[in-house]
Amino acid sequence: MIDYIDSNLVVETGKLEAGSVSWRSPSNLAIVKYWGKHGRQLPRNPSISFTLEEAYTTTVLKYAPKKGVDHGIALTFTFDGQPKPDFTEKVKAFLDQVTGIFPFLKQLELNIDSSNSFPHSSGIASSASSMSALALCLCSLEHELFDTLSNDDEFRKKASYVARLGSGSASRSVFAGLALWGKTGEVLDSADTYAISIQDKVHNTFLNYQNAILLIDQSTKSVSSRAGHSLMNGNPYAEPRYQQARQNLHRLLPALQSGDQEVVGNILEQEALALHALMMASNPPYLLMKPNTIAAINRVQTFRQESKHPVYFSLDAGPNLHLLYPENSKSAVESFITSELVPLCQDGRWIKDRVGKGPIQL
Ligand code: PMV
Repeated sequence: MIDYIDSNLVVETGKLEAGSVSWRSPSNLAIVKYWGKHGRQLPRNPSISFTLEEAYTTTVLKYAPKKGVDHGIALTFTFDGQPKPDFTEKVKAFLDQVTGIFPFLKQLELNIDSSNSFPHSSGIASSASSMSALALCLCSLEHELFDTLSNDDEFRKKASYVARLGSGSASRSVFAGLALWGKTGEVLDSADTYAISIQDKVHNTFLNYQNAILLIDQSTKSVSSRAGHSLMNGNPYAEPRYQQARQNLHRLLPALQSGDQEVVGNILEQEALALHALMMASNPPYLLMKPNTIAAINRVQTFRQESKHPVYFSLDAGPNLHLLYPENSKSAVESFITSELVPLCQDGRWIKDRVGKGPIQL
């Protein structure tokens, strides 16, 4: 198994000039969810997601050779240009974790600034976009310093591997369209340690899919994803859940390929509710949906039945609802959102997004 540990990646600091690298990387929405992990950020089941377009993190990494002798990570981190001690701790812990892969990080003064395109306190999970943006910056830095990773496939594979170490779902954000993370006999080259693109196995309908994010509640979640994953150890439904995810993946792949929106939509909703059912069945049990999440779900299902527009919902580990629908239903669904769902959103806020083209180097 690749581990990317490479003690040769050290620089001669006397000859090194300061520089910078920058990436913009999107968030993603899982159809088959990853919930439960083991070992070093390894998934209990394979997952598949849509890469988004408008919800992204922009990260600028500036570097300069270290002056004195210091064997740790020298980091200044800002978010939107402002110091943010809790984020700094997380980023530093992550960089400490990847010094075996990028030993040169200990030889540099690092200055990282990140910002999100979506409102900071919107309750949208930002770990996928932020960790993938950072991993892409680290791979670009390696490329700049050592002229390695010139092949785009190799570059993305390593970026996905590194992103996974920061946040499992971030491994999937490195690719345009749709991505699969986790070993499955159904897809050649799939792996637990990095994600792969499955864009070429997907019908065009899904590559132009729309995603509306309804901000039902924007406060910080009562139970983090990290705690949620670990509560799967000991959850009595854990094993059946991992089996269900594999069955859903088996049904999903041909439906994605043939453009079967009903099957994809059905799996999307089942996976969303199964994720929240697992939370309710954890010990201690917890609930992240809000009354308006359920009210919105009911309205979406009624609208679908009456209008025949193939609009389906999903949820991340939080109360906000994602709606997925094809481009040709856009105007009908958007008027439905404005009239029936906006009143259920906190401060009437929602975000228009769609399936995206993947990260961009700036
Ligand atoms: O990547 P994490 O550790 O933030 O976990 C993400 C989990 C879900 O968003 C709920 C599901 C998924 O597959 O993205």
